[in-house]
Amino acid sequence: MERRPLVAGNWKMYKTAGEGAILVQNLEERVSAYWAEVEVAVCPPFTALKSVSTVIELDRLEMSLGAQNVYWEDEGAFTGEVSPRMLVDLRCDYVIVGHSERREYFGETDETVNKKVKAIFAAGMVPIVCVGESLATREAEETETFVREQVRGALQGIDSDHAQRLVIAYEPLWAIGTGRTPTPEGANDVCRSIRATVGAMFGPPSAIALRVLYGGSVKPENARTFFAEPDIDGALVGGAALDAESFAEIVAAAL
Ligand code: 13P
Repeated sequence: MERRPLVAGNWKMYKTAGEGAILVQNLEERVSAYWAEVEVAVCPPFTALKSVSTVIELDRLEMSLGAQNVYWEDEGAFTGEVSPRMLVDLRCDYVIVGHSERREYFGETDETVNKKVKAIFAAGMVPIVCVGESLATREAEETETFVREQVRGALQGIDSDHAQRLVIAYEPLWAIGTGRTPTPEGANDVCRSIRATVGAMFGPPSAIALRVLYGGSVKPENARTFFAEPDIDGALVGGAALDAESFAEIVAAAL
């Protein structure tokens, strides 16, 4: 695989600052040997970013750090929000944007995702843009059209230099936290269509460089089947990322 695989753990609203620091130390023992071949990222909640970042720095861990959300302004009277500058200050490399839980519970739209993507790139970080269809959309056989529109909406007005660093996570809503997954071939079809959409927007170099992750009930038992697909460049892992052993097994499957 020419693209370096990325396995990212989305911790969602789990782990305190102390628990996160311990998890990342336990993880390092298990994944440090793989770094040259597989990029490993952890995305703790905001409140654990500092402690996890400090462990990564002091122990010189070869691990990337991501946040799960951000606001698009640099600073201002926006009570409760966190800016890109603040995340850069904590040495974040990535920010997850447009996760389906944020779209469903917190009013995230393609338009706000787009503003966040621009702000993340402007601050020097890389967005992990989440897209994915509901069960109803899948049953109506409109998955690829729906996902294509989400990708277009999220990436409107991005310049092609930035597009070459982009990560997109394809997460079918009905597969998140359910134990159900698409077939690896079915997931690959959507990932290929995402790559083609990025290629049409920004040109072939962006399509070639783009890392498309699969997310939704990725486990040690099924990870390898997804990673074997040509257009799947890694995974965005929820539940299985909360345990060092299972997350490390998923990382090993990407070798
Ligand atoms: P699960 O791996 O728990 O299904 O969650 C996937 C996800 O939403 C990652 O962002």
